Amino acid sequence: MCGIVGYVGNRDAVSVLVEGLLRLEYRGYDSAGVAVLRDDELLSVKAAVRVWQLRNMVTDLAGAHLGIAHTRWATHGPATEANAHPHFDSSGRFAVVHNGIIENAEALRTQLADRGVELASDTDSEVFAHLVAEASEQGGRLEDAVRAALRLVEGTYGLVVLDATRPDELVAARNGSPIVLGIGAGEMFVASDVSALVRHTRQVVYLEDGELATVRAGEFHTSTIDARTTHRAPTTVDLGVDDYELGGFADYMDKEMAEQPEAVVRVLRGRLDAKLGTARLDGLGLNPWELRGIRRVKFLGCGSAYYAGQLGAAVVEELARVPADAEPAAEFSYRNPVVDPDCLYVAVSQSGETFDTLAPVQELRRKGGRVVGAVNVVGSAIARECGSGVFLHAGPEISVASTKAFTNMAVSFALLGLLLGRVRDLSAAHGRRTVAGLQALPERIAEIIDRRDEVAAVAERFADAEHMFFIGRVRAWPVAREGAQKLKEISYVHAEAYQASELKHGPLALIDKSMPSVVLVPDDELVAKNLSTIEQIKARGGPVIAVTNADVPIELADAVITVPSVGAALDPILLTIPLQLFAYHMARKLGRDIDKPRNLAKSVTVE
Ligand code: AGP
Repeated sequence: MCGIVGYVGNRDAVSVLVEGLLRLEYRGYDSAGVAVLRDDELLSVKAAVRVWQLRNMVTDLAGAHLGIAHTRWATHGPATEANAHPHFDSSGRFAVVHNGIIENAEALRTQLADRGVELASDTDSEVFAHLVAEASEQGGRLEDAVRAALRLVEGTYGLVVLDATRPDELVAARNGSPIVLGIGAGEMFVASDVSALVRHTRQVVYLEDGELATVRAGEFHTSTIDARTTHRAPTTVDLGVDDYELGGFADYMDKEMAEQPEAVVRVLRGRLDAKLGTARLDGLGLNPWELRGIRRVKFLGCGSAYYAGQLGAAVVEELARVPADAEPAAEFSYRNPVVDPDCLYVAVSQSGETFDTLAPVQELRRKGGRVVGAVNVVGSAIARECGSGVFLHAGPEISVASTKAFTNMAVSFALLGLLLGRVRDLSAAHGRRTVAGLQALPERIAEIIDRRDEVAAVAERFADAEHMFFIGRVRAWPVAREGAQKLKEISYVHAEAYQASELKHGPLALIDKSMPSVVLVPDDELVAKNLSTIEQIKARGGPVIAVTNADVPIELADAVITVPSVGAALDPILLTIPLQLFAYHMARKLGRDIDKPRNLAKSVTVE
């Protein structure tokens, strides 16, 4: 949600800015805008348009060397030109782009109005431009005015300010919403996400919460809101522009599904000990005694990250025999939970920016809970707030629908289960079998993806379904939930997941020939029960797609998708892959915008 780009250097600023916005499109937005300073004149274009349309509208802005740009996801007021960023003070001297939410905006708007300031938009962000203008009346540097304005706002921000009287600098600030500086040769970039920078530079500086940066073409300096200088050395990002390109794939979801075997190789690298049959997760920062002291594990995440957490809870309980569960992160916060000092809380997030997951992390830390992250994006808010955890190493995930990050979450949790198991009662032999299963995953996933045409053919047959059930039992229950989630978010086909045992307590009433069910049949001790579920559905005229690695009689279901096995505890990971492919091919058949489903954003940074 929302994206920021800033530039100062010798190139044509507007081209750099618009290109940066294109890179941030995947985050989701409903309006876009740029402001550049050319010959001391502040020029701006903004509208409720896509970035490619904005590009055609900004041709007159060429020739500037300093500017800021933004894609907005509406929070305060609808998607209109007035509400699009950048926002300006009344004199038009200061331009501001802002991600996050200024929580005391209403009070600040009232105070500004009382002082005779006319506000041009409904947004919380605009107040900041006026506050900077007022603060600048005291004289001093731009960063002093920004600092003074920041002292008045409550809430979250990643922002960049441009002052039309200072053609050589931008000031950026961060609190809860990421800002990263890109260090070029005689030029400098600012963005909310490294994806907007990697085309130009791999040298970056992530601002910390409560930090400001003044950025000029050849230098930058950072300080805190209370004006203490900070010293930040650039780091090199491990990603290049190719990581963000489609590279011949039809869309990012297709690319990211195909990348899963190599992504799993990365998440396992250096983390398996085949000899001792255990895992190494040094990033947790927990020694064996501390690991043994954990009496419960709780996974917190949203959407697919929550379902991955459910898979994690199952595998931790199975391998370590430690009670474990998962809960939607926001629900956890809202119910004022009891914080258990013996519990390991795991905050699960691809983006590391999801507000609903960040909030409980902060609450847990305030209350002394032990919380670690399972996060994909290095330097993200949740990763920083947790301070320890497991990086997912899935690589950039651009498509709104999470695939490779989901898989790497599930794999990481199997590593956690193995580690916790091996400091308890899991035998070395069982541990070694689990290690072997994990090592086999990349190849088995590749086999499933290679046979994608079979799944595509099944999707083709069912593409006119208006509703579908996804049915799973025990280990396959989170798989069913994730399968339903994938289908609804990208194909817009209504899908609901049920535990197989729950069917007869209500949902069976909905079964008829227009309600296909995807029934998961893992090769575990519950095969017979799952086959009888299929029979119950068939007896009521419901079409069945069986997804299985067990020996399912072909004639029992209308379609059977088979996957290999790597052992019962890990098989749910493999069972998820065909469900991704199924959703993908349904969505393609229905002509959906697969990477950018309607109403959704990749990173949900608001409550
Ligand atoms: C996944 O396909 C969804 N787009 C969504 O549920 C996502 O998993 C959720 O919003 C959490 O995102 P995060 O992993 O970045 O925190």
